[in-house]
Amino acid sequence: MDSTYTICYISKAAQELTTQDIKELFKNTSSVNNSNKVSGFLLHSINNFFQVLEGEERHLKNLFEKIQEDTRHSDIYEVYNKHTTHPVFKGYKSEFDIVKSSEDLEILVSYLSQNNANSTNLKLKRLLKPFAMLGDF
Ligand SMILES: Cc1cc2nc3c(=O)[nH]c(=O)nc-3n(C[C@H](O)[C@H](O)[C@H](O)COP(=O)(O)O)c2cc1C
Repeated sequence: MDSTYTICYISKAAQELTTQDIKELFKNTSSVNNSNKVSGFLLHSINNFFQVLEGEERHLKNLFEKIQEDTRHSDIYEVYNKHTTHPVFKGYKSEFDIVKSSEDLEILVSYLSQNNANSTNLKLKRLLKPFAMLGDF
């Protein structure tokens, strides 16, 4: 069966990051991920990053090595690093999603709610809840 790889983590954003730095990170991330057929989302809020990456295993593992070494964040807590036979973002936006506002987050959560049978969707929704409640974008 076709198997996609998923990596999901939460990390602490470096304190010195400016709004401009985050804008640039968002821009590069979406453009590079779109060219490499990586789906998922990246969110920055309450001094944390939350990212889900879905795509081809080798590519994601190489990418994640770079992401782990990136000094723009620290304290990376891995939630998922595994194969998945039910990719969550297959039917979502064609573009890699950058969650920049509460409205973006609402759209993402309502997409995840469409498939409550997928346990990954439910877990992601739970993990997104604090951002929905406290989120400062
Ligand atoms: C929180 C965070 C998330 C990132 N996510 C991605 C990503 O999804 N795709 C990507 O290409 N780079 C991402 N990056 C940037 C990479 O860490 C790295 O800078 C980028 O891949 C360029 O590496 P290179 O110039 O060595 O190729 C992220 C960085 C941070 C801090």
